[in-house]
Amino acid sequence: MRVRVPPNSAILQAPVPTSAAPAICPWCSTRLLYPRARPSRRHFSSTRIHASAWAAAVSKIQNTVADVLPVRPTSGNITIDPLKIVAEELKFLNKNIRQLLGSGHPILDTVAKYYTQSEGKHVRPLLVLLMSRATAFAAKQPRHNPESLSRRDIDTPISSPTVLYDNNPDQTASPSPLAEPSNEARYAFPDDATILPTQRRLAEITELIHTASLLHDDVIDHSTTRRSAPSANTEFGNKMAVLAGDFMLGRASVALARLRDPEVVELLATVIANLVEGEFMQLKNTASDEKYPAWSEQTITYYLQKTYLKSASLISKSCRAAALLGQCAPSVVEAAYSYGKNLGLAFQLVDDMLDYTISGTELGKPAGADLELGLATAPLIFAWRSHPELGELVGRKFSEEGDVQRARDIVAQSDGLEETRALAQEYADKAISSISFFPNGEAKDGLEEMCVKVMKRRK
Ligand code: FPP
Ligand code: MG
Repeated sequence: MRVRVPPNSAILQAPVPTSAAPAICPWCSTRLLYPRARPSRRHFSSTRIHASAWAAAVSKIQNTVADVLPVRPTSGNITIDPLKIVAEELKFLNKNIRQLLGSGHPILDTVAKYYTQSEGKHVRPLLVLLMSRATAFAAKQPRHNPESLSRRDIDTPISSPTVLYDNNPDQTASPSPLAEPSNEARYAFPDDATILPTQRRLAEITELIHTASLLHDDVIDHSTTRRSAPSANTEFGNKMAVLAGDFMLGRASVALARLRDPEVVELLATVIANLVEGEFMQLKNTASDEKYPAWSEQTITYYLQKTYLKSASLISKSCRAAALLGQCAPSVVEAAYSYGKNLGLAFQLVDDMLDYTISGTELGKPAGADLELGLATAPLIFAWRSHPELGELVGRKFSEEGDVQRARDIVAQSDGLEETRALAQEYADKAISSISFFPNGEAKDGLEEMCVKVMKRRK
């Protein structure tokens, strides 16, 4: 049963905490230039004592909510495994995704399903599922489509099947060999009433969009490995890898439409555009792509904007979409969005750091790839501030012999990695404080733990 908070609960009126320095970072209001890394908070607990007036108000709200909720008691240092919290749902994720990707064309079927063979980290679906469960507490604020859709509804075409599967309208008598699998063949998932069928499908859609972007990304980056196996472009060639990615986006779009929620369609379609915009921005290291760029604050602003579009947008908008599908009140929707935005930025900053610090074997993909690809990411951008000689190397995208090693050495001697970690920690902290007014419980603990895991991850 989805737990309901009385409609007049204070939680409906709770403002979302926001920080006030948008002039510095347009995406998350974090200071972009700050003193050297300060000690980071290593442990987060739902029972943390807050000092501010805001925190006092939140604590009051939490107590109100706790009165009507079956809240799991949290004590001290409980180790939470976010994966376990939604393990039942995740068990079916790959199977359902493979069903969504089914094609009657055998080669397309194989290529499209290729990256679903090896288990990915499933970070995005995991976050959507945790967010769905963590926001199930919120009082409902029905939008345009108040009735929640059943499992069958989200598989039901909106258009007539004769139109949808009209591979050749002149031959309507023969069923299309490329049609989607029938509804009956489809969709197993557990009966967990705290996660709606639409939210579960959203989790699958996020993984489809992410995987499609990886298929394209590996072509752009000439990657030879992915998830400790040959990349799709290596295995099937660039053309098939690109087309498989396109096909995946097509199937993701169909599934998205069948959620029958225009606001959610708009959000996730925007994510697809954002991924392309971010990838485009990444082709240049600075806004005007000068030959001899000088470091400026604009360098970091540009990098963070690219990072948001390429990596955080999918997480922020899908967390927001999960709350919208749950018919949550606006304050909860904003909190989910803010959590996703900040966690997404932390995630990519750590990714950029690992590219300098972890071996390819441990990562399951080529390490040190960013510099080889000519990319100036956070560790180098921070190092560049105190090592202006890096500008020339950035300008020529580390293309001359010895450039990559020189850049790597300068980064190693600088505080670039430390500063990257500190900035990631700030975002992770912000993600946690965004959801601080959610009532204590397993799913909220899981979301907080994701922030800890993102900071600790080695792959
Ligand atoms: C991985 O980056 C790639 C992304 C996060 C997004 C890539 C986006 C595109 C290629 C645009 C096209 C988008 C769609 C939806 C088809 P990375 O190279 O930093 O990470 P990696 O080391 O895992 O390859
Ligand atoms: Mg790549």
